[in-house]
Amino acid sequence: MNTRILTKNDIAEARTLLKAGRNVIFPTETVYGLGASIDSEEALKHIFIAKGRPQDNPLIIHIGKKERIEDIFSVIPEETYKLIDAFWPGPLTIVLPKKESVSDTVSAGLKTVGVRMPSHPVALELLGEDLFVAAPSANPSGYPSPTKASHTLEMEGKVDAIIMDGDCDVGLESTVYDVLGKRILRPGAVTLEDIRTIVPDASLYEGQEKTASPGRMYKHYAPKTPVYFLEGSVEEQRKFIENEITSAFLVDDILYTKEERIRRFLPEGNLFEASKHFYELLRELDEKGYDAIYIPKVERTGIGLALMDRMMRSTEHKTKRLGGENEDHSRK
Ligand code: TXA
Ligand code: MG
Repeated sequence: MNTRILTKNDIAEARTLLKAGRNVIFPTETVYGLGASIDSEEALKHIFIAKGRPQDNPLIIHIGKKERIEDIFSVIPEETYKLIDAFWPGPLTIVLPKKESVSDTVSAGLKTVGVRMPSHPVALELLGEDLFVAAPSANPSGYPSPTKASHTLEMEGKVDAIIMDGDCDVGLESTVYDVLGKRILRPGAVTLEDIRTIVPDASLYEGQEKTASPGRMYKHYAPKTPVYFLEGSVEEQRKFIENEITSAFLVDDILYTKEERIRRFLPEGNLFEASKHFYELLRELDEKGYDAIYIPKVERTGIGLALMDRMMRSTEHKTKRLGGENEDHSRK
C-alpha cells in the first residue's frame, strides 16, 4: 500500500480519504490514532490487520462535536453531560451502552462503546461536525503508542495516509471511564481526582474481568528490551548505575548525569513532563540494544496514577530492589 504523507494543510484530503473508506493516521493530544470511518466495515477491519490487534479489543470512536454522542449511545445518564462539559474536548473516553446501529466491529461485540472528543486542533478539524472515526493508538499491537510524528512511520505501507504534526502534548492514552459502573477502566490525564469532582464515589477498576476492560488483558507498552523498576537508596542506585554500564536508566534529577544511557526523566519532579516523554524514551532506548532499561517508581496521584499504570505494564511488574529481595510478579 502506498502511504501518503500529509500535513495539517491537507486535512480536507484526509477527510475525503476517511469518507471513502480509507485508513488515516492523525495526531491527537494524547497519542497518534489510526482512524477509520465507523461506516466503513472494510476500513474498520483493516485497523485490526494493520496493528496486529486482537479481534476482541474494542475501538474508541472520536467525534468533533459533543452532541454527536446522541447518535452513538443508547443510554445517557445526566452526569455524562457534566463530565463532557468539564473535560471535553480532552483526554477522556466515555463508555456507555451503544445504539444497535454502531458496528460490532467497533465494539468488538460488546454492548457498550467508548467515545471521546479530542482537543488537538488537527483532530478537531479532521472530524468536523459530521465524522465518526474509530481509532486505536497507531502502534503495532503490544508496542508503546506513538507520541511523535516520526513514530508513525513504522506504519508506512499499512495505511492510506499519515497526517504528521509534531509531538503529542499528553503522551499517554486517554482516561477510559465507565459511566454506569462509576469506574475508571484505564487511568489517564483526566485523573481520578478530576472525575471525583463530578462523581464523588468514582473508583479505579483494578480487576481482571475481560468484558469490563478488554484492552487491559493484553501485553502492552513493552519494548523488546526488558524493563525493570529500580528501587534502593540514592547511594545504592548510584553505585548500580555506575556498574551496569550496558544498561540504560530513566532517572530523577538527583541521579542524573550527562551520559547517553542516563536520561533525565522527572525534571524538577514534573510528572507531566515524565508522562509526555515516557513512550518516546522507551522507544529511543529500545533501539540502542541495551541489556535492560531501569525506571523509577512515581507517586500514584494525579497523572502519576496513569504513568505508573503504563510503567507497570512495560516492566510486566518486575522490580530490581537493591540491597534486598527482587520482585517478579510477571504473569507469564
Ligand atoms: O488517547 C486515546 O484514547 C488514543 C487516541 C488515539 O485517542 N486511543 C487509544 O485507543 O488509546 P486504544 O485502542 O489503543 O485503546 C482503547 C482502550 C482499550 O483498552 C479498550 O479495551 C478500551 O479502550 N475500550 C474501548 N471500548 C471499550 C468498551 N466498550 N468497554 C471497555 N473498554 C473499552
Ligand atoms: Mg493502544
